[in-house]
Amino acid sequence: MLYTNIAQLATSAPGPQRGAAMRELTVIPDAALLVRGGQVAWAGRRQDAPSWADECDLGGVAVVPALTDPHTHAVWAGDRLADFEARAQGVAYETILARGGGIRSTMRATAAATVDELVALARPRLAALTRSGAATVEVKSGYGLDFAAELRMLEAVGVLARDVPATLVPTLLIHVPPPEGRAGYVREVCEGLIPEVTRRGLASAVDVFCEREAFSVEETRAILTAARAHGLGIKLHADQFHALGGTELACELGALSVDHLEASGEAQVRALAASGTVATVLPGVSLHLGLPAAPARSLVDAGACVAVGTDLNPGSAPLSSAALALALAVRLCGLTPAEALTAGTVNAAAALGLRDRGALARGQRADFLALEDRDWRGLVYTLGGSPVRQVYRGGQPLGGEGL
Ligand code: NIG
Ligand code: FE
Repeated sequence: MLYTNIAQLATSAPGPQRGAAMRELTVIPDAALLVRGGQVAWAGRRQDAPSWADECDLGGVAVVPALTDPHTHAVWAGDRLADFEARAQGVAYETILARGGGIRSTMRATAAATVDELVALARPRLAALTRSGAATVEVKSGYGLDFAAELRMLEAVGVLARDVPATLVPTLLIHVPPPEGRAGYVREVCEGLIPEVTRRGLASAVDVFCEREAFSVEETRAILTAARAHGLGIKLHADQFHALGGTELACELGALSVDHLEASGEAQVRALAASGTVATVLPGVSLHLGLPAAPARSLVDAGACVAVGTDLNPGSAPLSSAALALALAVRLCGLTPAEALTAGTVNAAAALGLRDRGALARGQRADFLALEDRDWRGLVYTLGGSPVRQVYRGGQPLGGEGL
C-alpha cells in the first residue's frame, strides 16, 4: 500500500539514539510511505514515490512512527483512591508503603483476583495506551503477593497479548519483599521463580525495585545475575527516592534500561552516559507524586540514550497516554519535541531490546501514526487532547472492538 497526502513525515533514524543524535529527525514535507509485507519499503517525497496500484490518502496530516511504552504496570486490581486523598493531605508515598498500604494494598487486591478478572481490568487500560499511539507496550508483573499470584499476573499478560491490538512485552518485576519478611525470599526468587518463568516463557526480562522500602543493591545484584544467567533481559527501577547505587549496578551488569531516576545525581548521569543502558524517565510519576523530574536534559547533554514511559500504575502514575508522557517529558524534564519523539520511539523500543521498530525507514515494522495535526509537533503539544487520529500496526489500521 502506498500512503499518500502526508503533510509531513517525521522520523528518527533506526536503532537507539544518544545525546545530540536524539534531536536529529528527518522531516519530509508532502510525503508518501510505501508499506509491503508489514514493513516500510520506502519513505520520501510524494513526487519521488514509486508508482503503486493501491493508494491510501491520509488526508493531509502528519505521520510519525508509532510509539513504544517501555514501562507499565497495566495489570492490577483494586484502587488507590484513599492513598491519593491521603497524599493530597500531605502523607508521603513512602510513608504509606512503610505502613503496609500503597503497593502492598494493590498486591492484596491483585492476589485475590483471578486471571480472567485481571485480563478484564487491564484490557481497557491497554486500549487507552494504544489509542494514544503506543503500538508496543511493556507490561510488568509485581503485584503478586506470592509466586502463584505473580505467575497469574504474567498469565494474564499472555492472554492479553493474544487479543489486544498492541504488541505486549512481558516483564517479571520483583517489586517488594513479602510482608512476613525477606529471609530466603531472594534465594527463592533466584532458584524458583526465575527458572519457572523462563521455562514457561512468561517474561522476556526481569526488573527489580531497588529502593529503601524494597530491595537493596546486593539483593538486586543477586536477582539480576540469576535473570541474566537464564538468558532474560534485565531492567531496574532505581533512584526513585534515593540513589542507592542501583543505577551503577545496572550499567555494570549491562541492563537494557534503568527507569525512574528522579533522585539521580551527576554520578548516575555519568554512569548512564558511559553505558549502553537506556535511561527511561517517567514524568507522570513526577506530576502525580510531586517528585523532582528526572534529569533527562542532563542525560541527553551527557550523551546518554534516553527513553520515556508512562509507568501506568494505580499508585505513582495513573497515566494511560503514551503521547501525554512525551508531552510531560518536554514540560517537566526539559526534552525538546524532537528528543521526546526519539525517546518515545526508537529509544523506547531499545529499552525493550527491540530494534525493528520506531523509525519510518526501509525494513522497519510499518507501525505508524496519522496525527490530527499537519505538523508532527502536534503530537507533544496538546495536553489532554487526543493528538492521534489513527494507529497503524504492520501497515494495518487498528480499530474495531477493544479500541
Ligand atoms: O514504578 N516505585 C515502584 N513501583 C511503581 C509504583 C507502583 C505502585 O505505586 O503501585 C513505580 O512507580
Ligand atoms: Fe514502575
